[in-house]
Amino acid sequence: VTIFVPRDAAALALGADKVAAAMGSEILSRGLDARIVRNGSRGMFWLEPLVEVRTEQGRIAYGPVKPSDVAGLFDAGFLTGGEHPLCLGLTKEIPFLRQQTRLTFARCGVTDPLSLEDYRKCQGLTGLQRALAMSAPEIVQAVTDSGLRGRGGAGFPTGIKWKTVAEAPGPQKYIVCNADEGDSGTFADRMIMEGDPFVLIEGMVIAGLATGATKGYIYTRSEYPHAIQTMNAAIEVAREAGILGPSVVGSGRAFDMEVRAGAGAYVCGEETSLLNSLEGKRGIVRAKPPLPALKGFLGRPTVVNNVISLASVPIILNRGLEFYRDFGMGRSRGTIPIQIAGNVRHGGLFEAAFGLTLGQIVDEIGGGTATGRPVKAVQVGGPLGAFFPRALFDTPFDYEAFAAKDGLIGHAGVVVFDDTADMLRQARFAMEFCAIESCGKCTPCRIGSTRGVETADRIAQGIEPEKNKALLADLCNTMKFGSLCALGGFTPYPVMSAMTHFPEDFAPTPLVEA
Ligand code: NAI
Ligand code: SF4
Repeated sequence: VTIFVPRDAAALALGADKVAAAMGSEILSRGLDARIVRNGSRGMFWLEPLVEVRTEQGRIAYGPVKPSDVAGLFDAGFLTGGEHPLCLGLTKEIPFLRQQTRLTFARCGVTDPLSLEDYRKCQGLTGLQRALAMSAPEIVQAVTDSGLRGRGGAGFPTGIKWKTVAEAPGPQKYIVCNADEGDSGTFADRMIMEGDPFVLIEGMVIAGLATGATKGYIYTRSEYPHAIQTMNAAIEVAREAGILGPSVVGSGRAFDMEVRAGAGAYVCGEETSLLNSLEGKRGIVRAKPPLPALKGFLGRPTVVNNVISLASVPIILNRGLEFYRDFGMGRSRGTIPIQIAGNVRHGGLFEAAFGLTLGQIVDEIGGGTATGRPVKAVQVGGPLGAFFPRALFDTPFDYEAFAAKDGLIGHAGVVVFDDTADMLRQARFAMEFCAIESCGKCTPCRIGSTRGVETADRIAQGIEPEKNKALLADLCNTMKFGSLCALGGFTPYPVMSAMTHFPEDFAPTPLVEA
């Protein structure tokens, strides 16, 4: 019998290691024939630690399991799917999972992340095999035609970026995976690295074949120790199996890679700052042009792609570009792993084709707030994303549709707030965040953010509120158009959306006489 206890950081934070240890001692003391696989997470965090058991009917889930529940589960015969108050039935039938279209995350939570055998059994490496039978321009064309756009947030077409690198002259090219997932409420990159690391390796090897790059780096943050550990172990397994090295699966084409950890500055997720950090320099933004595609790591042509962009490539080659392209809406093709967080009942990862409305995501899939109070605002796209009120809940999840409403989907993090949230405080927080994380290279961001905090404070204190609101809007305008990178350039989104959609929170509070 196989029991699955996740090793994903979210499950570990909720006690998965203790549950696994308790399971191990029960198996020993009862003399049972069972083994424990430490899988990735299925992404239903309110049910973690989610324990599964493989039965004849399929995998049956139990959760959330505490160490003190373990003996009772064995007493109830959970190894054969026995009834128990924590039993959730067949895992694949849990509505949150059943409603998803899992392409990029197809194996996450299903396989043993470090078992290449599991990976192969679940269609792993077939994309790479197909890529090896194609020419480099054919791979680039397939990725372009699939409609895949950068999942880090900017939504730039991945195939076009690869084409630029492929056609750039240079003796050495690089694939850099941006795994510096810094947005609040996001965890998709981490879940892939911890739950299905081989898919990222496969995607990076394909990117190398397509562009002529022979070396890859995964740049992640030291706050992700479990992801680093799993990725390093997976790279070692892939190297031993000949998937990485001087001759990728015997093709005569070389590709190898390594993991590098940054100290966790938000701005190091910005691609040029990331490259500086990767080169051992201070994580400060470089002016573009030159684009990293032409002059990137060590001044050489470099693909900088987010984890999810690269991890989506194997399925495109495996199932065909049409298969992938047929999901989605408008110019947003394929699927997107939506990360639902904040004050929400059902927080977790929901992969779906583009096009769900924000209301469906928050009310139906997320189940509303955890506090049970009305939803007041939803911040989509991380700390630089706009706050959307209920009135905009009909906005479909699509790059262009969000941009048309002065928002962004970014890395697809969705953070829910109930009616106790004070949007003036949230606007102040956005400015404060920018002030703390600013790399300091340009004035609108470095100085503007600090002035922004002071101005928000004056509005809160009721000091010349109308004048200060106008000043805050003016400051946002300067930051939006005058900043060198997205940190200073996008901080106005949360600030302006808070002011526009929640003006009542910016109303003057009369100063109380002592
Ligand atoms: P950008 O629009 O400047 O560039 C997008 C990408 O396309 C870059 O990699 C750029 O080098 C590349 N590119 C542009 N023209 C090209 C060409 N002709 N050939 C080849 N490549 C080309 O956007 P940027 O500044 O890279 O990213 C901003 C986004 O980052 C925001 O929309 C935000 O959503 C997102 N973001 C994501 C975070 C995360 O944790 N994932 C954190 C903060 C922001
Ligand atoms: Fe640095 Fe901010 Fe300017 Fe970006 S906008 S380059 S983070 S100072």
